[in-house]
Amino acid sequence: MTFRIAQISDTHLSPDHPGFTANFHRLAAAVRESQPDLVLHTGDISLDGADKDSDLAFARAEHDAAFAGLDWRILPGNHDIGDTPAPGVRQPANAERLARWCAVFGSDRMVVDTVGWRILGLDALTMGADFPAAHEQFDAVAEAAAGCTLEVAVFLHKPLFHSHAAEDEPGYWYVPHDPRQRLIAALGRPPALVACGHVHQFRDHMAAGTRHIWAPATSFIVGDDWQEPIGTKMLGWVEHLLHPDGSFESHLRTVDALTLHDIGQMPHVYGAMAKRAG
Ligand SMILES: [Fe+2]
Ligand SMILES: [Fe+2]
Repeated sequence: MTFRIAQISDTHLSPDHPGFTANFHRLAAAVRESQPDLVLHTGDISLDGADKDSDLAFARAEHDAAFAGLDWRILPGNHDIGDTPAPGVRQPANAERLARWCAVFGSDRMVVDTVGWRILGLDALTMGADFPAAHEQFDAVAEAAAGCTLEVAVFLHKPLFHSHAAEDEPGYWYVPHDPRQRLIAALGRPPALVACGHVHQFRDHMAAGTRHIWAPATSFIVGDDWQEPIGTKMLGWVEHLLHPDGSFESHLRTVDALTLHDIGQMPHVYGAMAKRAG
């Protein structure tokens, strides 16, 4: 039996911003209609869960209601649990934020096996952090990957890189070089699929034998004045069909009547964004 995953991402829910909630309700209805085996959210479920328990609780309640009767799981995003610790990061991922996340959602990672496949859901934000649970994740990945004869699909919030695994440019959009190398070593061999969110752009590309899918956001895009266009700036979700023979399909799904919010034009949400050079 083919295992059908509905990947949604970047809902950025808060009781203070009903426009994002309206988009979520419309997209969730389309996902429900598809009757997936698993709804997998790749993070930024909340607008500011990194600092507000109320945003985490609101996002949890909205998803429980929207996906009642379905198996839905969530991985943390930087707006939920804080960002990869680095100089100047305002909300670093740390043990306290991880504990607050786990109090609402149970865990920041998962392993799901289905016929022919092992699905690894990872916490992209604590990967660069220095506390025991952050280090333990790499041991858990190595344990899940060692001797695994199934095809492996990895889901996490941030893309691993822009173009290739060796690149080393510090920045907001990708898993940094050192934790990326540690993750690749723990995996041992290239996964068939790496699926993420975070960039709020859809992208589908191959790199070193792995297909990388960036799911579009549910909530908003970041306009070209503020963010380099790499993939396609749009809203929607992705349907992954994992076949028992180890082959798979990933299909972009669009939803009518979503409002294409541009966060660059909404300084009341996260503050004014810096315009990009050029
Ligand atoms: Fe996001
Ligand atoms: Fe994000």
